[in-house]
Amino acid sequence: MILFESVTKKYGPRITAVNEVNFKVGDGEFIFLIGPSGAGKTTVLRLLNREIMPTVGSVFIDDWEVNKLPKSKLPYLRRKVGFIFQDFKLLPDRTVGENIGVALEILNRSRQEINKRIGEVLDIVHLEDKLNYFPRQLSLGEQQRVAIGRAIAGNTSVILADEPTGNLDPKTSWEILKIINDINKEGKTVIMASHNVDIVNSMKKRVIVMKKGKIIKDEKRSRYL
Ligand SMILES: Nc1ncnc2c1ncn2[C@@H]1O[C@H](COP(=O)(O)OP(=O)(O)OP(=O)(O)O)[C@@H](O)[C@H]1O
Ligand SMILES: [Mg+2]
Repeated sequence: MILFESVTKKYGPRITAVNEVNFKVGDGEFIFLIGPSGAGKTTVLRLLNREIMPTVGSVFIDDWEVNKLPKSKLPYLRRKVGFIFQDFKLLPDRTVGENIGVALEILNRSRQEINKRIGEVLDIVHLEDKLNYFPRQLSLGEQQRVAIGRAIAGNTSVILADEPTGNLDPKTSWEILKIINDINKEGKTVIMASHNVDIVNSMKKRVIVMKKGKIIKDEKRSRYL
């Protein structure tokens, strides 16, 4: 369960990126977060993984108030919440396997456990044959699949995706969407910020529309516009 309770995020005195936002997301839901550039989508996602703190209000994931978690509990939050970025943010000097394993090393798993999990994750993102490749040796779609693998490696229950298809061609975008959708079908909650009209309209998922920091529409089985 994810809950935003009267959340406002200000950057300095003048910019209100998120303005008294309320919404609730059930376990296993798939939600598109849409709206014009500057609407506050990325800010909402960053509030959820505690990259930033609300100025006012509370953000809950399950029974944790994310904005009140002590620093010592942050590794547990990282275990629950995986993040996928538009520009992948892979480590260029690490292999595919190492990029996926990074998330697990933070969690103090044994080498054997980590290698086993990397194998499972490579299956899920269909990169079984790329274990020892470096990011520069992969296509953009493959790089994004590595990033998805990193996000889910810790068996996270929530996946946040910030325009994950923003740098990809339409066909590759759909491949990525299919993988994210498969992960959702396994029971993970997905919140995906997107400008991709075709994908949002085809999926018929719940759509939350933001504008100038406010939610202006929140509708099940919805579409763009
Ligand atoms: N670190 C920051 N410092 C100051 N202002 C910021 C910062 N991050 C975001 N903002 C501002 O907050 C508002 C919301 O930004 P946000 O990145 O959440 O929008 P967005 O909906 O993700 O837009 P886009 O579709 O372009 O990614 C914008 O006006 C933006 O300029
Ligand atoms: Mg954004």
